[in-house]
Amino acid sequence: MNIKTNFFKICIVGDFGVGKSTLLHHYLERRFVSDVQSTIGSNFFVKHIKIPNVSNLITLQIWDLAGQDHFKWVRQAFYKGAKGMVFVFDLAREETFNHLSSWLEEVEGTIGYVPRILVGNKVDLVNPSERVILQQDCIDFAHQIKARSYEETSAKSGIGVDNIFYNLTLEMNKKYRR
Ligand code: GTP
Ligand code: MG
Repeated sequence: MNIKTNFFKICIVGDFGVGKSTLLHHYLERRFVSDVQSTIGSNFFVKHIKIPNVSNLITLQIWDLAGQDHFKWVRQAFYKGAKGMVFVFDLAREETFNHLSSWLEEVEGTIGYVPRILVGNKVDLVNPSERVILQQDCIDFAHQIKARSYEETSAKSGIGVDNIFYNLTLEMNKKYRR
C-alpha cells in the first residue's frame, strides 16, 4: 500500500545561543523576537508549506531542542521519527561551527542519516571582510555531511530563513513520498 505522507517531523539543533528559537519565531511570525528565553527541554511548532508539483499542503512539525549540554538525554528522545534535521551554528562564534561534528554524532547515533540543511545564522553580525568562518569551509562541510544546502541566515532581518524549510521540505519530499 502506498501511503502519501503530508506530514514531516523536523528537529532543529546546534549549540545554545546560536539562534534556533529566534529563527523559528521569524519563520512563523515574520518578525525578530529579541527576548526569546533559552529553551528548556523542547518546544514544537507547526507550519504548513506548499512546494511545486505537490497539490496538498505539507505539514511540518518542527521540534526546537535546547542546545545546552545537560539537555542531551532529553534531546535524544525527540530525534525518533524525525525525517529532517536543521543543524545551526553562529557565524560570529567559531566554536559553534567546530562543535557541529558532535551534533552530527549525537543525531546519527540515534536515527542515522536523514535529510538535512546546514545553517550559519547571525550573518548580520559578520563583516564580510573579517569573516573568521569562511563561506567556502561552510559549503565544503555541508557537502561532507550530505546536506541539501548551506544557508546563511539572520533571525534579525529574516534573510535566508524561508530557504531552510523550503529546501528541507523539497529534500524530504523527494526521499519519502511515493
Ligand atoms: P538555546 O535555546 O539555549 O539552545 O538557544 P537558541 O539557539 O534557541 O538561541 P536563541 O534563539 O535563544 O538566541 C540567542 C540569542 O541570539 C538571543 O539574544 C537572540 O536575540 C540572538 N539572535 C538569534 N539570532 C540572531 C541573529 O540572526 N542576529 C542577531 N544579531 N542576533 C540573533
Ligand atoms: Mg532555544
